[in-house]
Amino acid sequence: MRKPPAVSTWRNRLLGRWRAVLALPNNSTLKTMLVALAVCLVCSVVVSAAAVLLKPLQDDNRSLDRKRNILEVAGLYQAGQDVNLLFGQVEPKMVELASGEFVDDGVIDPAAYDPLRAARDPAQSTEVRPDRDFANIGRRERYATVYLVRRDDRLQHLILPVRGLGLYSTLYGFLALEADATTVFGFSVYEHGETPGLGGEVDNPKWRAQWRGKAVYDENGALRIEVIKGAVADDSPSARHQVDGLSGATLTSRGVSNMLRFWLGDDGFGPLLNKLRSTGEKA
Ligand SMILES: Cc1cc2nc3c(=O)[nH]c(=O)nc-3n(C[C@H](O)[C@H](O)[C@H](O)COP(=O)(O)O)c2cc1C
Repeated sequence: MRKPPAVSTWRNRLLGRWRAVLALPNNSTLKTMLVALAVCLVCSVVVSAAAVLLKPLQDDNRSLDRKRNILEVAGLYQAGQDVNLLFGQVEPKMVELASGEFVDDGVIDPAAYDPLRAARDPAQSTEVRPDRDFANIGRRERYATVYLVRRDDRLQHLILPVRGLGLYSTLYGFLALEADATTVFGFSVYEHGETPGLGGEVDNPKWRAQWRGKAVYDENGALRIEVIKGAVADDSPSARHQVDGLSGATLTSRGVSNMLRFWLGDDGFGPLLNKLRSTGEKA
């Protein structure tokens, strides 16, 4: 029986063939194709290796960025300070959206929970009725992570993750509410693909500053918060529920109103907010 050739023999043969290719004239079609193929192979190995090796770093950075955004909207961010250390002041909690009940600690790990993946999984999500899908998300996860900030053991701020379609992209953001579950403390959009200078102004700090103090619900509990077209008239009876529209970006502005209408409504955090408004944090 013939013995399989030793590795060094294979290597020598391959090297020999490669040398033969390199010895071909530079205008040879075969040489051009083989050199191009070799360059592609080397590049794809380098790119794949970089993607695999850098994935944990990217995940860490994404998580840090999310934490920084939560701290910012809660007014706790301090430039130059360790984000993970500052985030110790924030308590992530899982909520069952339909009932508005907090899930017991330890049942679902908020750090490992991915709401977008859950929303894609039929076992962990429900389809949103098209006539109520104001945020245009299609499916909504059963559980969501909310973030509590306490002072002297009392709830100070509640931070809700929100997302919804703008004009060109899905906007991802956070809405921070005061402990009354009605007054806005802050609003931020940390990821979107809207046009810079138009819809992209959703992340302009000047525009975001208007949100503080706005009331999400009126005295009858009706959801009233909205981004209007144009500027809010100070003497309007609705001014405390309204935010100036982004100029030249009515569709992105409408997307923001719609995503809040969804996430603060019955299919979103409405049940949780109703409980907090009526019974406080014991809900
Ligand atoms: C290049 C380009 C980019 C645009 N980007 C946005 C955008 O990001 N968000 C948005 O609402 N409208 C954007 N618009 C404008 C919309 O097409 C639409 O005209 C606008 O939302 C209407 O708002 P207005 O009534 O305030 O003009 C863009 C228009 C152009 C030509």
